[in-house]
Amino acid sequence: MAYWRTCRMGEKTMPRDRETELPRYAAPGRPLGAYPRLRARRNRRAGWTRALVAESRLGPQDFIWPLFVVDGEGVSQPVPSMPGVCRWSVELLVERVREAGDAGIPAVALFPYVDPALKTHDGEHALDPENVVCRAIRAVKAAAPEMGVVCDVALDPFTTHGQDGIVRDGQILNDETVHVLCEQARVQVEAGCDVIAPSDMMDGRVGAIRDTLDAAGHEDASILAYSAKYASAFYGPFRDAVGSAGALGAADKKTYQMDPANTEEALREIAADLAEGADMVMVKPGLPYLDVIRRVKERFGVPTVAYNVSGEYSMLKAAGGRGWLDYDLVLLESLMAFKRAGADAILTYAAMEACELLAEG
Ligand code: PBG
Repeated sequence: MAYWRTCRMGEKTMPRDRETELPRYAAPGRPLGAYPRLRARRNRRAGWTRALVAESRLGPQDFIWPLFVVDGEGVSQPVPSMPGVCRWSVELLVERVREAGDAGIPAVALFPYVDPALKTHDGEHALDPENVVCRAIRAVKAAAPEMGVVCDVALDPFTTHGQDGIVRDGQILNDETVHVLCEQARVQVEAGCDVIAPSDMMDGRVGAIRDTLDAAGHEDASILAYSAKYASAFYGPFRDAVGSAGALGAADKKTYQMDPANTEEALREIAADLAEGADMVMVKPGLPYLDVIRRVKERFGVPTVAYNVSGEYSMLKAAGGRGWLDYDLVLLESLMAFKRAGADAILTYAAMEACELLAEG
């Protein structure tokens, strides 16, 4: 006997379709769950029900906080194109990292502002274990050993031309650059860096770095590959912060960073980096590339990190500062968009602000 015939209450009261004898709600052509029985607004009617049915959640554990470090003591230099962001000298940076730990942020990403006097054509200072980023890594790990430390591998903060690699006759040389990046990665891991993040977009660098780290006994050091990194104008304020903007001048990075027109290529880059040993992959910039994040997550199902880059941060700050947008609300909405798109973690300069807003509820 059909299931509906066993339902005695229904037997008596349920209006039936003449032809099929089915209860009318199940009759052909009458979709289940249609208005007026279904009212989508019921699940939206109060904060508690919205909280129960939310598909994505945002919290301090989602964030990696990028911080800029500079030589000196007691130095906090505001970055004009990134309101609210400073370059910190090492001991002040450590204070920021402690605050991040208290807020529940699991990891920070450290970026150096290198004294122009220490920059060279080939960026050798990147390999100096006493450079400012290595000193910062050591200080952070000593003060907050449970905090994850992520560091870029790329030469741009250290080169006089602001390119990420070794330049000869106007060309960025791939294999020569990879060789140097391997050493930079090793030096940073030996200073205590937990996660090496190659942001240079040279071919083959993930595998070469993995081999170098393994050969040096650093099998536990992770690699977060900037796999799908686009040649983007949204990096402008970051280049001010690390002091590579002036060095780069009118030049661009289009011969190694990706063309914003491409997504299939991003998937190939991700596949290559995973095959070479990347533990996590990154899509960058973030908000204009949410489609790429979604495709990466669906295709590979691997830890996928989004970089909410400097220009994205500054856009919201600028509009918020003029009263054109409610900064707090658009910030949380933007960060949630990353989670909805499938990102597991988000690098964002607004990590601490977001933690405060989320704690306020
Ligand atoms: C350096 C690097 C850049 C960013 C992260 N690492 C800039 C660039 O490639 O020119 C950008 C981060 C941001 O804009 O917030 N290779």
